[in-house]
Amino acid sequence: MLQLSKPPIYLDTMCLPFPLSLPPLLLLLLLLLSHPPSTTTAATMLPSESETLFKIMESMSSDQPWRISHPTPCQPSSSWPGIECKIGKDNRPHVSRLDFGTPPNPSCKKTATFPSLIFSLPFLQSAFFFNCFTHTKTTLSVPQNRASSPASLQQLSLRSNPALSGPIPPQISDLKSLEILTLSQNRLSGPIPSEIFTLLKLIHLDLSYNVLTGTIPMQLGSLRNLQGLDLSYNSLIGSIPDTVGQLGLLQKVDFSSNQLTGSIPNGIKKLGLLVFMALSNNKLSGKFPKGLEKLQSLQYFILDGNPMHIPLPLEFGKLVKLQELRLADSGYSGTIPESFSQLKNLSTLSLQDNRLTGEIPVGFGSLSHIYHMNLSRNMLGGVVPFNASFLKRLGRNLDLSGNPGLCVSSSEAHSLKVGVNVCGSSDQIASPALPLKNSQAPSPSGLSIKPFFLYAVLCVLGLHHQMFLV
Ligand SMILES: *[C@@H]1O[C@H](CO)[C@@H](O)[C@H](O)[C@H]1NC(C)=O
Ligand SMILES: *[C@@H]1O[C@H](CO)[C@@H](O)[C@H](O)[C@H]1NC(C)=O
Ligand SMILES: *[C@@H]1O[C@H](CO)[C@@H](O)[C@H](O)[C@H]1NC(C)=O
Repeated sequence: MLQLSKPPIYLDTMCLPFPLSLPPLLLLLLLLLSHPPSTTTAATMLPSESETLFKIMESMSSDQPWRISHPTPCQPSSSWPGIECKIGKDNRPHVSRLDFGTPPNPSCKKTATFPSLIFSLPFLQSAFFFNCFTHTKTTLSVPQNRASSPASLQQLSLRSNPALSGPIPPQISDLKSLEILTLSQNRLSGPIPSEIFTLLKLIHLDLSYNVLTGTIPMQLGSLRNLQGLDLSYNSLIGSIPDTVGQLGLLQKVDFSSNQLTGSIPNGIKKLGLLVFMALSNNKLSGKFPKGLEKLQSLQYFILDGNPMHIPLPLEFGKLVKLQELRLADSGYSGTIPESFSQLKNLSTLSLQDNRLTGEIPVGFGSLSHIYHMNLSRNMLGGVVPFNASFLKRLGRNLDLSGNPGLCVSSSEAHSLKVGVNVCGSSDQIASPALPLKNSQAPSPSGLSIKPFFLYAVLCVLGLHHQMFLV
């Protein structure tokens, strides 16, 4: 009890001298601020660096009067949003990261243009501009002078900037330390400069969603550290260079939605770590390279919308890690290989809008992970090999419509929402096999009749259903 009453006394005595010492402390602080010390322990940023930073901030953002509100940008008590600093070997703080456009980072003003001054910040490691250049047209300019480009920049990210146009400058190759370069969703045009492929430290390169033209340079193969490559949604032409096979660490490649021609290069089968490959919506044709089954890490293979016009390769059945296989709208003919049933981890299979014939492989009914299967608008026939529990599980995610030769056995019929007739009994109602002979392929002219026809069948079935229930 006695001990408990003691502490307040100590506190009192300790607190007493503190208010007395405050004014001199403040004075000292003010002095420190007005006359930056040259040799004290807590050094401030070099005036040249902070001046560059102020200029960048003033040109980019009008959120605050930066010079006045944050005169010491790297001080922990007064640090800016969107900025990170590191203490250098000189014991001074340096800007290591700048981040504009996403809250809580500074927003960009309407007149903001790309600040090439960032390349004069000698210790900058990463810079982000997201949804920043939206009103005033600007270009990505890297100063010509080699000396002024920092060797420090590892990550440059310019994403969703509709006013950023013009070419990717070849001088980008001066940024030798770049590991991540993201220039996605801008309006960058012109060819991909081959100089970009001298950035040997690159791990991720994303130039997607721009208006880039020309071919994919074969120098691509130099980027031996590359793990992610995204050139999708541009206007690239020519073929995929075989040198892509030299990118042995590649895990994700996306060339979709361009105008690439030729066939898939042989080199691609060397990419044993590849998990994701998207080549959809191009003009790729012809054969798959032999040995494609070597892509043993592949989980996502997205290839729809290419004029392949070949039978489906049996080897796909050996890509046992596949979770998504999309091969729609590509002119595939012949039967669906039974080997596809070995893809036990498949959750999405898209084969719609091809010219596939024969029956649905019996093994498909035991694909236990399948969640979405679209086989619509082919020329498949025979009895659908799915039992009621399978049909129920997939529900509306199973689409077998537009295959007039297919039918579902009457025991499964009440689970029917897949656009297929009931075998046998319903034949009398609709005699579905006959119009098929006239329009083998799903053709535009057939389309106008089909929905109506289907609707009629579904109505009759619905009636059946109700009668059974009552
Ligand atoms: C299938 O997926 C599961 C879980 O996602 C994984 O553990 C398993 O290794 C996969 N099987 C194959 C053959 O890749
Ligand atoms: C449906 O088929 C699957 C796969 O063949 C099987 O595992 C399941 O037991 C079947 N269900 C019924 C209700 O017959
Ligand atoms: C199947 O593909 C067709 C044609 O592309 C599309 O219209 C339909 O919505 C798809 N069905 C499902 C269930 O995804």
